[in-house]
Amino acid sequence: MELSPASLSQPDRYKLMIGAIAPRPIALVSTIDAAGRSNLAPFSFFSGVGSDPMLLLFCPANKPDGTEKDSLRNAKPGSEGGRGEFVVNVVPERLAAAMALAAEPLPFGESEFDLTGLATAPSRVVGAPRVAQSPVSFECATRQVIRTNPGVPSGGNIVIGEVVHVHVDDAAINERLHLNPDVLDLVGRLGGLSYCRTRDRFDLRMGR
Ligand SMILES: Cc1cc2nc3c(=O)[nH]c(=O)nc-3n(C[C@H](O)[C@H](O)[C@H](O)COP(=O)(O)O)c2cc1C
Repeated sequence: MELSPASLSQPDRYKLMIGAIAPRPIALVSTIDAAGRSNLAPFSFFSGVGSDPMLLLFCPANKPDGTEKDSLRNAKPGSEGGRGEFVVNVVPERLAAAMALAAEPLPFGESEFDLTGLATAPSRVVGAPRVAQSPVSFECATRQVIRTNPGVPSGGNIVIGEVVHVHVDDAAINERLHLNPDVLDLVGRLGGLSYCRTRDRFDLRMGR
């Protein structure tokens, strides 16, 4: 099948993206608004960018009315009216149901921490709390937001953050900073409503 994006509806384009770009890691992003109220939402258009400096990105699409999702409103730089910071919490299988519940589009200012029952823990550097039960949390200072289709429903936004502090559960890491994938037990998102586990793994050398 040959497909031209120009001839596809947005939902069909989205279907192709999430079906083929899989599995995707999940960032459970915690933020606070100007009044200090917390917000939590999952994003699987998420990736690391580089390690020097340590940067990562997540991509909150515009809402159906073209406005910004709460995570973007909170995480965007202070010069754009946001708090300029966010926390990416990773998602083990035991937090998967709460993570999916956190995708509920609550009104701005209402916290998905309350909805899901997930506990907050204070961050060290940024104001937004981390998810206490997550084994790894990256505290980030927002560097830049790139808006690919401002004000348009489903338009993309790339939020780039610099990691300013990392919290790792002691049980998940050794003294050489190797993370234990069995302890992390992370899940990834596939197409539709599907997820995958990271328990089935294999090793390969790079190059020849
Ligand atoms: C596993 C998972 C991954 C998601 N990934 C994204 C994503 O990459 N971009 C996006 O805009 N929404 C994504 N969503 C939907 C958002 O979580 C949802 O719109 C949420 O209400 C946004 O919350 P906020 O307005 O508090 O930021 C995802 C949902 C789930 C369950």
